[in-house]
Amino acid sequence: MNTEVAIIGAGPAGLLLSQLLNRAGVSTVVLERQTRAHVLARIRAGILEWSTVELLRAAGVDARMEREGIPHDGCVLASGDTQLRIDFRALTGRQVMVYGQTEVTSDLYEAQDAMGTEVLHGVSDIEITDLDAARSVLHFTHEGARRRLSCLFVAGCDGFHGVSRRTIPADRRREFERVYPFGWLGVLSETPPVHHELIYSNASRGFALASQRSETRSRYYVQVPLTDKAEDWSDEAFWDELRRRLPGEVAARLVTGPSIEKSIAPLRSFVSEPMRWGNLFLAGDAAHIVPPTGAKGLNLAASDVHYLHRALIDAVRGDRAGIDSYSERALRRVWKAMRFSWATTTMMHRFEGEDSFAEAMRRATLDHLGASETAQKDFAENYTGLPF
Ligand code: FAD
Ligand code: DHB
Repeated sequence: MNTEVAIIGAGPAGLLLSQLLNRAGVSTVVLERQTRAHVLARIRAGILEWSTVELLRAAGVDARMEREGIPHDGCVLASGDTQLRIDFRALTGRQVMVYGQTEVTSDLYEAQDAMGTEVLHGVSDIEITDLDAARSVLHFTHEGARRRLSCLFVAGCDGFHGVSRRTIPADRRREFERVYPFGWLGVLSETPPVHHELIYSNASRGFALASQRSETRSRYYVQVPLTDKAEDWSDEAFWDELRRRLPGEVAARLVTGPSIEKSIAPLRSFVSEPMRWGNLFLAGDAAHIVPPTGAKGLNLAASDVHYLHRALIDAVRGDRAGIDSYSERALRRVWKAMRFSWATTTMMHRFEGEDSFAEAMRRATLDHLGASETAQKDFAENYTGLPF
């Protein structure tokens, strides 16, 4: 098999890159380990920055998002019963869009089908070779046979546990990591959201988030110890805990129902530098992970793809300046989102065993945010997304 750009991973990064490249006349083959049904069943992110919305428009996958996505002008940061609304629109002129990652992925799959691009599922044992040669090669197993894909460039969009990042020699990679001592237990339910905007709540019992997918579908999270298992949390226990962590008047309005999905995600900050090795380019979770508090994971995958698709289109046409500066450009934005996600996580969570100074710093940070329009503007600017 031959193609111009081989893409490993059919998550949002891989599919969006494939979509943008094919629209520009650059050929791709996407290799995905899981089945399509598995990819589409993964409940993950829910908030799109406006630049991500615009990139999906540019990719021609916006029709359903325009109909079903819900633009939000602000969000609420709660501390106990105190609620602070951050008015994104008034502070920055920007909004965010509530539109689930599963919907984005599903729209991208449909668009890929319509263009007739090649997306292979159930691919295993990928090996990447010849990254310094004019053509690189992917060796992989598909439908029981060992196969070979020759390409000009490889895009590693295979998430945190993928093969791409590990192909870069360990002594040529620099990794930065912070693991947080808790996870998020998430529940999806067919119930109306408790509030028309998101509520990030810092309560004495720990963090909670009230999010949504539509007017009839809610997504809620509570901070839990890493030792907890999702199956040990009954729906009733979850709703009770959530109620205790939301401001009183909000909790009183909470409508509960059976969970459709329940899972625990650990929280981690991670960056691997550089994002390029020869003809291999990393994008999305393959290169970096943020804790979910700032809603940045999916959006960072989109900004990487924004830089990378332009660089690859130029490179296929013979201009290599974009691919030479890709890693540096992408990382500059990645680190700013890292900082915001870490700071928001630190501001909104209780850390077990934390001292009174750490607790006082968190209170002072929230207090300052409540009193200072400048601080609110900074939060809004970061939350709605820094420019590409
Ligand atoms: P992924 O979505 O991970 O896609 C990578 C793809 O590569 C997958 O389909 C995988 O099957 C495939 N793959 C992996 N290894 C191989 C291989 N060896 N060969 C072939 N294919 C391979 N972000 C938020 O903003 N809010 C959230 O609430 C949120 N919740 C999350 C919950 C969980 C459990 C996780 C894991 C992430 C969550 N994120 C969240 C982060 C967000 O979902 C990711 O940042 C986003 O999915 C990144 O997209 P990606 O395409 O880079 O990677
Ligand atoms: C969702 C997840 C987040 O991490 C976040 O910050 C906001 C919303 C969600 O799944 O809806």
